[in-house]
Amino acid sequence: MTQQNTPIFSTVGIVGTGAMGRGIAQIAAQAGSQVVLFDAAPDAGGKALAAICQQWEKLAEKGRLTQEQVAQRVEKLSVAVSIQDLAPCDLVVEAIVENLKVKQTVLSEIEAIVSADAVLVSNTSSLSVTAIAACLKRPAQFAGFHFFNPVPLMKVVEVIAGLKTEPTICAKLAVYAQQMGHKAVQAADTPGFIVNHAGRGFGTEALRIVSEGVADFVTIDRILRDQAGFKLGPFELMDLTALDVSHPVMESIYHQYFEEPRYRPSVITAQRLAGGVLGRKTNAGFYDYIDGKAVIPPEPAVPVVTDMPPVWVSPRASRRSELLHLLKDLGATIETGASPSMNALTIVAPLGFDITTVAVVERLDPSRTVGIDMLVDDAATKRRVLATNPATRADMRDAAHALFARDGKAVSVIRDSGGFVTQRVVSTIVNIAADICQQSVCSPADLETAVTLGLGYPQGPLAMGNLYGPTNVLEVLFNMQTVYGDPRYRPSPWLRRRGAIGLSLLHTEE
Ligand code: NAI
Repeated sequence: MTQQNTPIFSTVGIVGTGAMGRGIAQIAAQAGSQVVLFDAAPDAGGKALAAICQQWEKLAEKGRLTQEQVAQRVEKLSVAVSIQDLAPCDLVVEAIVENLKVKQTVLSEIEAIVSADAVLVSNTSSLSVTAIAACLKRPAQFAGFHFFNPVPLMKVVEVIAGLKTEPTICAKLAVYAQQMGHKAVQAADTPGFIVNHAGRGFGTEALRIVSEGVADFVTIDRILRDQAGFKLGPFELMDLTALDVSHPVMESIYHQYFEEPRYRPSVITAQRLAGGVLGRKTNAGFYDYIDGKAVIPPEPAVPVVTDMPPVWVSPRASRRSELLHLLKDLGATIETGASPSMNALTIVAPLGFDITTVAVVERLDPSRTVGIDMLVDDAATKRRVLATNPATRADMRDAAHALFARDGKAVSVIRDSGGFVTQRVVSTIVNIAADICQQSVCSPADLETAVTLGLGYPQGPLAMGNLYGPTNVLEVLFNMQTVYGDPRYRPSPWLRRRGAIGLSLLHTEE
């Protein structure tokens, strides 16, 4: 935790000492830089200094810092009396209000105060670095330096070069990030940079599934946690970040990409934002909160089925042999005929297609047809997901539910849609990631690092694509495009090229 190297920036100014500024100030001081805190609000700098010191005291109480180390760090911090006190800084980090005009005004003022070789950076999360730099006399010495909240714990920072940024500045910032204990990733100046761009798939696709009435919030969260290994479901996550933060990001990226359908926000979050139903901080979000704890509705009970019908599995089911083994293990009576008998529960396992389409195309009786998501290896998932079609009989739905729950594994039953929940969300995440690579927003390696550290996904989006199989992801997307006729599911050429020839998504040479 203590920093031995001489910091590449010896004196760092932090302008705007709110949630982000104080976090950046803390790690800058930990890296050994002298840190000058400046804020327009009276007392804000002093409050930030006290808050940072408190963090270090807490570490000392836990035995992770000595009092001497705390004292050494505290000495690194000072509060500016006026903006002129930023004059000795060789780096100034702007973390003020997210407003282009205000940022430009403040940065121009700072540029006139500091020396000619000082570097200026902005912690902007959504504004164009090039646009901010347009007001500066020395845009070559300006870059984006985008941290995540809480800064000391979120160990990644995006370094963003504007059109005129000198590459050596980005290289210096990457070294400094490392000295602060962070991993720098290099991003092109594009809407949402890497993390906020890559994060578009998770929430927006989940919201779309809800808006189609396929499943409710809680079920989607359960499925994505248990089947795909996300730490938090998308609705738990939106409740945590709060809709006054996440909805504007969705809108901003969508508009900055000139209404690209992939990033289309949801009316659900727009309405909730307007109604003040923001999440944890208002005690009401997708979940209700009592004493800070989410009220989680109970799982639907497993139906009791005394007369289990025989089961027939479509020859076109994905992972068919695995599915047949599973059914055998669950004690099902499996039919082996070319078509199901009159009583058989008919199981299909499509990728991307809806159960209705499969029943029609395969000429199956839809009233006895139930789908199961076999994108994920059954042994690797804690939940099985079944889908009915509008004609599925209740007794057949209940039989499938009871059968697949026989070994105690959780089962969710959702309504019909092109692609199941995990198929839709995972494929959307992978497709957006592929598009990020296609646009050369960053290197595939930096994409993986940024997403795992910045979003906490169980793996990077390209590794996720490899896990589920690039050809499977492609199949889901192609079929969903057919079902929905929506360009949002159009596979990125980057993904198509790799998927079509069965190449790992982490294989990037062309
Ligand atoms: P905040 O509201 O907690 O703090 C902003 C601080 O800037 C306040 O103390 C305010 O008094 C000060 N300020 C406002 N205008 C000023 C001016 N003209 N001159 C000097 N000080 C001024 O905001 P927060 O959350 O720390 O965000 C700051 C920046 O970081 C924004 O650009 C935001 O988009 C970005 N960001 C925020 C993240 C977050 O999760 N909160 C994550 C990543 C980036």
